[in-house]
Amino acid sequence: MQRGSDCLPLSHLDPCGSETFPPPQKHEVNSPGAPAGVSRMRQTVIFYLSYLLGVALSLACLVCVCVWSARWRGGFAWDGSGLQFNWHPVLMVAGLVVLYGNGAVLYRVPLTWGQNKLPWKLLHAALMLLALVLSVVGLCAVFGFHNANNIPNLYSLHSWIGIAATALFAMQWVAGLAVFLLPCSPTSLRKLLKPVHVWLGGGILSLSIAACISGINEKLFFVLKASAGGAQPYSALPPEALLANSLGVLIVAFGLVVFFILSNQKWQRPDSRPEELAYTPLLQEENE
Ligand code: HEM
Repeated sequence: MQRGSDCLPLSHLDPCGSETFPPPQKHEVNSPGAPAGVSRMRQTVIFYLSYLLGVALSLACLVCVCVWSARWRGGFAWDGSGLQFNWHPVLMVAGLVVLYGNGAVLYRVPLTWGQNKLPWKLLHAALMLLALVLSVVGLCAVFGFHNANNIPNLYSLHSWIGIAATALFAMQWVAGLAVFLLPCSPTSLRKLLKPVHVWLGGGILSLSIAACISGINEKLFFVLKASAGGAQPYSALPPEALLANSLGVLIVAFGLVVFFILSNQKWQRPDSRPEELAYTPLLQEENE
């Protein structure tokens, strides 16, 4: 069981240290000068440092993928050419990595804990919907490019991992909407599906990262051949390869930060911790 002293500050408005904890710990939680207060403060600082690192890595990923497509791959168009393909990495990284990862850690931000959960649930769902829309448009870009150039679809390992990630994400979003947002869904179902939702959410992020790494690698092998228009081969590590490799490293680092945040139980929203799982349909929560 989570100890009251492990919870992040906000004990006045959450169940930490209330009926689930004996009185002495409750006293510790409310005493700012006590060692428990120092520990909570340290947890808060570590959380925000990790969160800021995640935001910085997100921005770095976006800059790298945009510079790669715009500066090294000739920019963007929607005409079936290679310029249409260029939307693919940008939209996939923006949707299935950056927006998805940031949406996943939204509930962990302690600033949101003192407030009604409903707006944060809606923001979580909206961020995930935007991520899904961007990734579907990103897939349309590459399918359109393949079809316009008579390139077979879904032949590569990258495409298999990628299509699995997107399909699971779409299913997860619909199931999340039905189970956690619709007021008619029963409490028992929410309790049952919450761990599955969290586990699958992490699985989808892992698949997205695997898809990005394999996609970056594949693209570099395609375009950086000694024979391709005088380009330096990948093995010579030209500046484009350095940039794209760095993009891959940044994506992995971002994923690790997201998993670090998600894996720490002390950073869970207090009313989402396992011992506090008393779900009520959303509209009831709203009124509490
Ligand atoms: C979560 C991220 C990603 C997903 C879900 C994804 C998904 C896909 C899918 C499903 C295809 C097959 C399209 C078809 O068969 O017509 C594809 C193709 C492709 N993707 Fe990605 N992709 C992702 C990220 C990236 C990134 C970052 C790059 C880097 C440039 C990339 C490069 C490619 C390339 C070169 C192809 C064409 C060759 C192939 O079909 O394997 N992808 N992607």
